[in-house]
Amino acid sequence: MTVTSIEKLTREAAAAELADLQARIEAANSAYHTLDAPDISDADYDALKRRLASIEAHFPDLKSTDSPSDKVGGAVADGFGKISHEQRMMSLGNAFEDEDVTDFVRGIRKYLNLTDSAPLVFTAEPKIDGLSLSLRYEDGVLVYAATRGDGEVGENVTANARTIADIPQALENAPKILEVRGEVYMSHADFAALNAQQDARGDKRFANPRNAAAGSLRQLDAKITAARPLRFFAYSWGVLSEPLGETQAASIARLAELGFQTNPLTQTCDSSEEMLAHYHRIEEQRASLGYDIDGVVYKVDDLGYQHRLGFRSTTPRWAIAHKFPAELAWTRLEKIEIQVGRTGALSPVARLTPVTVGGVVVSNATLHNEDYISGRDSRGEVIREGKDIREGDWVQVYRAGDVIPKINDVDLTKRPDTARPFAFPEHCPECGSDAIREEGDAVRRCSGGMICPAQATEKLRHFVSRAAFDIEGLGARQVEAFYKDGWVREPVDIFLLEQRYGAGGLQQLRKREGWGDKSAENLFAAIREKRRIPLAKLIFALGIRHVGEAGASLLANHYQSWVAFEQAMTGALIGEGAEWLDLLTIDGVGETFATSLVSAFHQEAERASIDRLVALLDVVDAEARATDSPVAGLTVVFTGTLEKMTRAEAKARAESLGAKVAGSVSKKTDILIAGPGAGSKATKAADLGIKVLDEDGWLKLLEGA
Ligand code: IVH
Repeated sequence: MTVTSIEKLTREAAAAELADLQARIEAANSAYHTLDAPDISDADYDALKRRLASIEAHFPDLKSTDSPSDKVGGAVADGFGKISHEQRMMSLGNAFEDEDVTDFVRGIRKYLNLTDSAPLVFTAEPKIDGLSLSLRYEDGVLVYAATRGDGEVGENVTANARTIADIPQALENAPKILEVRGEVYMSHADFAALNAQQDARGDKRFANPRNAAAGSLRQLDAKITAARPLRFFAYSWGVLSEPLGETQAASIARLAELGFQTNPLTQTCDSSEEMLAHYHRIEEQRASLGYDIDGVVYKVDDLGYQHRLGFRSTTPRWAIAHKFPAELAWTRLEKIEIQVGRTGALSPVARLTPVTVGGVVVSNATLHNEDYISGRDSRGEVIREGKDIREGDWVQVYRAGDVIPKINDVDLTKRPDTARPFAFPEHCPECGSDAIREEGDAVRRCSGGMICPAQATEKLRHFVSRAAFDIEGLGARQVEAFYKDGWVREPVDIFLLEQRYGAGGLQQLRKREGWGDKSAENLFAAIREKRRIPLAKLIFALGIRHVGEAGASLLANHYQSWVAFEQAMTGALIGEGAEWLDLLTIDGVGETFATSLVSAFHQEAERASIDRLVALLDVVDAEARATDSPVAGLTVVFTGTLEKMTRAEAKARAESLGAKVAGSVSKKTDILIAGPGAGSKATKAADLGIKVLDEDGWLKLLEGA
C-alpha cells in the first residue's frame, strides 16, 4: 500500500481514501464478528483506523456521519448500533393465581373510582414466549427495528427485521409516524428443523425456540437471519402521530388491517370471570398452538382509561401477564453449594442431575436459606410437611418462566441411608469471616464486606450488568478476571484502568488472554463513554441492598441530582429528622429500603468508595420533571376525601405534571388540597400559612396542563 503524506493529499484523493478506509474497516469488523475469523491482523486494523482518523483531522468536513471513528471500536465492540426508544418499552407485572387477577381488576376499579357495576372491558391474549421488537414506520416506510434492550435503549436490528416475512416493509394509509411493537418468535416445527440442521452441521443446538429466535435475530449478518424462519405478532405500539383507535381491540384490529399478524386468540372480556375462562381456554390449546406461550396478557380495553392508569416505573398499571403454572420434574440433588452474593448473603444452591423441565435443561435450583432447607418458611412455618432437603435426595424441581428453578418436594422413599441433614456453614466459605444471622432475618450473611472476594466480585458484576453501567466488552467474566489479577478491586478502578494500564499498559492488557490492541482500545473507549451516566443507573449500580432498578428510579426522580441525593443520604439519620421523613414521603419507599440505603451511606468504607467513584463520573440529572405546568416544582399534599378521582390517580397526575407529592404538611409544602373530612393537616397548613385548595380549585389550577 502506498501512503501519500497527508500534507500532499488533495481533497478529492482524501475523500476517495476515506471511503475506501471506511469500507475496509467495516469489512474487517464484519469478518471479526460474524465469521469469528479476523481477516487482517490487529496491527493492520489499527493502522487503517489511525490513517482514517488523521485524514479526518485534516479534512473535518469530509468526515462521514457514520465514520467508524465515532463508534466505540466500530462494529467490533458494539455489534449493533444503539437506538433510544422515544417511548420506553415496558415489561409487564405478573399474576400467578386467579386471585391475583381479581385483585388486579379490583385495583383498577378502585384507581379509576368505578363502582362494581360500571362497565370495564379487558382484552385477553396469549403471552408469546419470544423477544420483543419495536418497528418504526415513517410515512408508511419501515425506518428501523430495535430490540427492547434495557427498555430505554435497544439494538438496531433493522437489516435483520427486514428479512422477516411477517414484517411489512411498507404500509398503506398508515399514520405518519407509527411504532408497532410485538414479539418475534419461532414455531415449534421451524425450531425442530433448525436444530436438525445444526446437528447435521455439527453446530450447537438451541435450548428452546425463544433462544433460537433471539440468536437468529441478533445475527450480525442479515443473510443468516434471512435463512432462519422467524415470525412476528403485533400486540402493542409506541409513538404514534395519530391514534389507531379508541380501544386496545380496535387499535390491534387496525394493525391487522395494515398488514400485521395479530393473535387470533385475542378476545375482549367484561369481567374477571370471563378473563379467567379465556385464560383456561388458551391454556387448553397451549400444546397444539405450534409456538410457545407462557401465559395470558390482560389489558384494559379503553385507551382513555389506559392513559389515566399510566405506568409504574417499568410496568403499565393497565396490563398484567397471567403466567401458566410452573412445570415440574424429578431428579437427584447431587450437592448443596453455598454462594456468597453481593450483599454478603450466603445462598444455598442445589446442584442437580440435569433434567428437562418444560423444554429447558435445569441443573441448578435455589434453596433460599437454611430454614428452607430444614423445612420451614421465613416465618418459621412448616413447609413440605416438614421434610428437610439433603444431598443425595430425589427432589421435585419446578420452574415458572424465567424464574430460577426451585425445589418443590422431596421423595423420602428414595432417600439414601447415608444422607445426613445439611449443616449450614457459620463461616463464609469464601473468606472465612463469621457468617452472621441477625434476629428476624432468614439469611446468614458474611461479615467480611469488601475484603470478601465473593462480595467484591459480585458487586463488580452487578456494577457492570446491563441495567447498571453496561460497559461494552466488560462483562461479568472480564471483571472477575480483572479482580483476580488485582486490576479492579472496586468500581472506581474500572475508570482508572486506562490511566493505569493504557499506553504502556495496553501491552499488558494485550498479553492477557483474549485481548488484542483493537479490543483493548475498544474497551477503554467504552469505559470512557460510560463516565456519563444517568442518576438512576448510578444509584442502581451501587448495589445497595433492597435498592433495585425501580427503587433507584424513584430516588432519582425524587432527588433529581447526585448532589441533592448524596446530601440527603449523608444528612439522614435512621428513623428521625427531616431527611429521613422526606425519604419516606416517596411513594414506594418503605422503612426497610430507607434503612438499608441510609446505612450504606453511613458506612465509612462504602461511602469512601462511592465518593472515589463519583469523582470520576459525569452524572446526568434525572430528566427534569415537566416544567411547563402550573404546578411544576411545587410540593403538594392531599388530605380528606377526593370526589372526582382517587388519591392514587390524583397523585400520579400531579407527579406527571412535575409536582412532588408529600405525605405530610411541613414548611416545604406549597399547596394542601383538602377534601371533605380534612383534619389536622388542614389545621397545620393554616398555622403555617400554606395555600389550601379544594379539589375543584386544584383541578382548575391544572386546567390546560
Ligand atoms: S404487552 C406496555 N402483550 O412480555 C405493555 N407483551 O413480560 C407491553 N409479551 O416485554 C407489553 N406477549 O416482550 C404484551 N401479548 C403480549 C405479549 C407481550 C409477549 C412480552 C413482551 C414484554 C414481556 C413482558
